[in-house]
Amino acid sequence: RWTVDLTQTGWKSAPEVPAVCRALAEGNLVAIPTETVYGLAADATSSIACAKIFAAKGRPQFNPLISHLPTLEAALEHGDFNDDALKLANAFWPGPLTLVVPKKASSSICDLATAGLNTVALRVPAGPVMRFLSSKTDAPLAAPSANLSGKVSTTTADAVAADLGPSLSYIIDAGACSVGVESTIVALVDGCARLLRPGGVTRDSLEAVLGKPLVGVSASASQDAPQAPGMLSSHYAPSAAVRLDATKVAPGDALLSFGPHPLPGAGNACAEFNLSSTGNLTEAAASLFTALRKLDASGAATINVQNIPENGLGEAINDRLRRAAAPRD
Ligand code: TXA
Ligand code: MG
Repeated sequence: RWTVDLTQTGWKSAPEVPAVCRALAEGNLVAIPTETVYGLAADATSSIACAKIFAAKGRPQFNPLISHLPTLEAALEHGDFNDDALKLANAFWPGPLTLVVPKKASSSICDLATAGLNTVALRVPAGPVMRFLSSKTDAPLAAPSANLSGKVSTTTADAVAADLGPSLSYIIDAGACSVGVESTIVALVDGCARLLRPGGVTRDSLEAVLGKPLVGVSASASQDAPQAPGMLSSHYAPSAAVRLDATKVAPGDALLSFGPHPLPGAGNACAEFNLSSTGNLTEAAASLFTALRKLDASGAATINVQNIPENGLGEAINDRLRRAAAPRD
């Protein structure tokens, strides 16, 4: 484990850096924090390295990976950006936005990372560690969220270690992720701007930059068209059952609350986590996955979730919660 204090400017010359870069260059897995969630990272140009990601996560092979780059300039080597893609990249990179664009024939990103598609998912994250390592190794870094497939994403190094420890060469610990939900994914293919997954950048702010509405997938509408297989209906699932829009709490249940007004029976809960006692959606997003893991660890059979508004980051939060509550296979 390498603990990075991002407030200290010297972290880029820490003695661990060469070893971490070597691990990545040799095709091994490294857990790297971003501003959204922790990523399970590997060299995106190596199909052997990417195969290790799928194996470690237990992820279905058809699910393509996001490649992380240090700059827009580096991203342009791998994808064809139309005007809308450039507008979004300029407005939101570095940041919690992934763009799916046509893959360039000359791109070095391997076919396994893109699951054989002719499009590629690219992101320049705000989290400096991922950007730095991608530029140091001079390779795009493929990184899905660092959790077992179908389980809750990770926003702390401890949660990563619990899910994936034995598969990793390094876990880089830079503390808790600031955004807490994954990046928003927008596909810019065939002249159309399509929202594939709500996330850290809100629909409103994307539409303000594009000057037009985004097409497609609202949180609940995507069941039979998994264009982003992260849209598979049961995803982000804790072991406990999840009950949305709870109006009361039965004895022994766990409670995920939001806002200043306690639910009737809140005192019955065997465990409670308030995402934001002031009703702040940014604060709620940042602690969502930690909250689900904590409540799941309480052993409660059911996690009751208090209603969370659908505006702003609420769209991404509710999307993740609906998937956590979806019927499991
Ligand atoms: O915030 C994030 O995006 C995090 C951090 C680590 O960057 N990563 C992440 O990756 O959430 P992952 O693998 O859990 O989700 C990636 C999503 C998947 O749902 C995948 O199907 C979709 O991106 N995706 C990747 N390539 C795609 C493509 N060419 N077309 C459509 N969807 C794609
Ligand atoms: Mg994921």
